[in-house]
Parts: sequence; structure tokens; C-alpha cells
Amino acid sequence: MGIMSLVAGSRSGPKGASRTLKADIARGFGNARSTYESASRLQRFMGNTMLQKLYTQDVVQADSEVLDLGCGTGWFTRKLAAMEQVGAVAGVDLSRGMVQEARENSSQSIDWIVGDAEYLPLPDASCDLIFSNLMIQWCEDPRSVFRECRRILRPGGRLMVSSLLDGTLTELKNAWRVADPDHEHVNRFETEAALRAKVHAELPEATIESRTIRLPYTSPMMLAGELRHLGAGFRGAERRKAITAPGRLRDMCRHYVKEPDGTIMANYEAVWIYWQKH
Ligand SMILES: C[S@@+](CC[C@H](N)C(=O)[O-])C[C@H]1O[C@@H](n2cnc3c(N)ncnc32)[C@H](O)[C@@H]1O
Repeated sequence: MGIMSLVAGSRSGPKGASRTLKADIARGFGNARSTYESASRLQRFMGNTMLQKLYTQDVVQADSEVLDLGCGTGWFTRKLAAMEQVGAVAGVDLSRGMVQEARENSSQSIDWIVGDAEYLPLPDASCDLIFSNLMIQWCEDPRSVFRECRRILRPGGRLMVSSLLDGTLTELKNAWRVADPDHEHVNRFETEAALRAKVHAELPEATIESRTIRLPYTSPMMLAGELRHLGAGFRGAERRKAITAPGRLRDMCRHYVKEPDGTIMANYEAVWIYWQKH
């Protein structure tokens, strides 16, 4: 039985400002549906790190039901569906546009669901593996996502989550602080200590691994373009509501710290969380 056929009745979702913010996040990713995959080298690296564990540690049982949580365009959902042991796969994403893109690009039999990771429309104990690459940093309350994952996993089921921590895109943040001090342009990320506390409050025996990844870019404009193509722009209330003027963008580029050869580096503080339900 596929996970889709197990979709539960309606669960109440977010209200007020939280609902508006989520709609904004979903719209931003939906608008980037056709450019996302060309810009996702960090996303590929982080997701591949989790896939490698699945390939090499023999943790997927025969006929497993798998959920890709925050599946985006379905790149990793398709990789999961191609695994021999996997019986059924579903991809869940907040963004209708992303889910549509994923569906259009997949020939495999995958169930695609528009849904919120904080209010999963799936019943208790309905899947064996949850894979979630770079989604949780978009959620207001990661603890509710961990709770939902714990709820829908079967005993023995596994959870693999990747995310980003404070210190990510710090050079870009600093350059914008000088160029446009009254507005935020870069997402805020949790400190490792704060995330660890949330993980361990819900998933006491979880393993957490972190490392710094530094990626080169020819210019700050290239980095800004990549974030636009990913649909990963800052969505908070403190952002500039109108389009950023070219002069401000040039100012940000001027203040971005350069390498001796004129290129730039961007810092990503990566974290992976692994947990198995008893
Ligand atoms: C950076 S993309 C990662 C996509 C995919 N996992 C990958 O590795 O390519 C983040 C995705 O999370 C989705 N997302 C954000 N908040 C979500 C939520 N509360 N519930 C489900 N999906 C969410 C976005 O719509 C977007 O597609």
C-alpha cells in the first residue's frame, strides 16, 4: 500500500502571520521551480551525504515506505524510488509549484503531496524512512517537525534530516549590513546549541554531525543569482518589500570580502541529524 493512500483527514494548519509566512515561502520556491536544479550544488552535496549512508549502511528494509519531506523538485525522491529495497515513495512539499514540477519530471510511481511538515497529513506509524534535505531551516518550529516525524514513523523506522546553522552566508550578511543597514537580506539560522536542544528534546538518542562547507563563486552577484534561482531569498518581515535598487546591490558587492584573485567564498554551516525510532 502506498503512503498516498494513507493520507489522513484534514489536520488544522497554521494561522495568522505564520500562515502568511508559509504562503510566502511556498510562493518563493514555486516561482523558482524551473531554475532550482541548476543552482542546487550545496543541496546536492548535503542530500548525497545522507544517500551515501543509505547506500552503504544497509539500513533500508525490503518493501520500505519512504517519505521525502520538503521534496522540492523531487531530485532525491527519484533517487530514493530507484533503490531496490524501497516499496513505495511519497514526496511532500509546502509549495504546490514545486510539487507540480516534481510530478512533471518523474516517470516513476511516486505519490506527490502538497503538505506542511509541521502538520503532516499522514497517519501515525505509516512509514519506515523519512529523508528531509534542507527543509527544516524553513520551519518556524523544528520541534513540531521532529514530533510529526516521530509520530508517523513505524517502530524501527529511521529519520535523516539536513539543515544549516548560524554562520551560514555570514560574509553576505556582513556585506548587506553595510550596504543596507535597515533591512535584512539573509535568512537567520539557529545556533548549533539551540538546534541540538530542540533535537534532543524530541529525539533523545539522535546523532548530530556538523561541518563547515565553503563554496567559491566568481562574484557576489553570482551568489545572489544562485539564491534567487533556488527561491531561497529572505522572507522575514524585516526584508525590503520593493525590488532592491541596482545601486544597493553594487554596494553589497563592493563590501563583500574578496579573495586575492577577486573571487569570493560563501560559508555554509551544515548539519545532519540521524535518528531511529525504538
Ligand atoms: C532548499 S529546498 C530543498 C528541496 C529538496 N529537499 C532538495 O534537496 O532539493 C527546501 C524545500 O522545502 C520546502 N518547504 C519549506 N517549508 C516547508 C514546510 N513547512 N513543509 C514542507 N515543505 C517545506 C520548500 O517549498 C522547498 O521546496
